[in-house]
Amino acid sequence: MKEVLKVKNLTKTYLKKKKKIIVLDHLNYQFNAGKFYCVNGKSGAGKTTFVEILGLLKEYDEGQILVDNQDASKLNSKQKSSLRNQKIGFVFQSFYLIPTMTAIENVMLPMYLDRTKSKKEIRKRALNLLDIMGLKDRKAHYPKELSGGEQQRVAIARALINNPTIILADEPTGSLDSENEDNILNILKGLAKDGKCIIVVSHNEKTMKYADEVIEIKGGGLICKTNSLS
Ligand SMILES: Nc1ncnc2c1ncn2[C@@H]1O[C@H](COP(=O)(O)OP(=O)(O)OP(=O)(O)O)[C@@H](O)[C@H]1O
Ligand SMILES: [Mg+2]
Repeated sequence: MKEVLKVKNLTKTYLKKKKKIIVLDHLNYQFNAGKFYCVNGKSGAGKTTFVEILGLLKEYDEGQILVDNQDASKLNSKQKSSLRNQKIGFVFQSFYLIPTMTAIENVMLPMYLDRTKSKKEIRKRALNLLDIMGLKDRKAHYPKELSGGEQQRVAIARALINNPTIILADEPTGSLDSENEDNILNILKGLAKDGKCIIVVSHNEKTMKYADEVIEIKGGGLICKTNSLS
């Protein structure tokens, strides 16, 4: 299976009141295309830190991150943003939708940043994604005019607009009812089947059941648990 994201000897520490907290300690892992990963671990274990580093949003002390075989540790911040925008889609726990933009404008935004496609093309693609998410008739709604679950689906559509190789999500079903949770997990599972690499932080047993591989962050390292639930 094609390797799309590799972490080598990743170490991350935080310094607080002169005290060093080692969150990730020479961690190694390889993520492949076509797989759905669920990352869990106790509160404070370093899950959010880990996915933010994987998404090139956070600096680290030591080690390497290879995105599609490209060593991100050698890139400057502009090159990193460009690599992130092309290859990685994010779904944050708190969505971060832009309140002054409608659903479709929020979805279009990451593709706009690239400036390579026409507005018409981007709009068409965004509309198709909203349709897949069951939100075609909500395209003109502002985030405050959408339910929590609808906002979350807009955030997922936005993460997909640039057709990323890797999708990172931090507790993406956190605020959803059981039916919407299944919808989102099925969408993510389908994307993995289409060859994307899906990495989801979650404690939720349902997410673990959907995952091909469940991994735990513990004591600064990653432990792969065979997925006994699926
Ligand atoms: N900016 C910071 N400065 C100092 N310590 C931090 C900082 N950010 C996070 N930490 C500490 O690093 C550890 C890992 O935090 P992180 O947010 O990655 O945990 P988590 O596994 O996502 O937890 P949760 O399940 O509660 O979301 C925690 O102990 C936290 O207190
Ligand atoms: Mg967290």
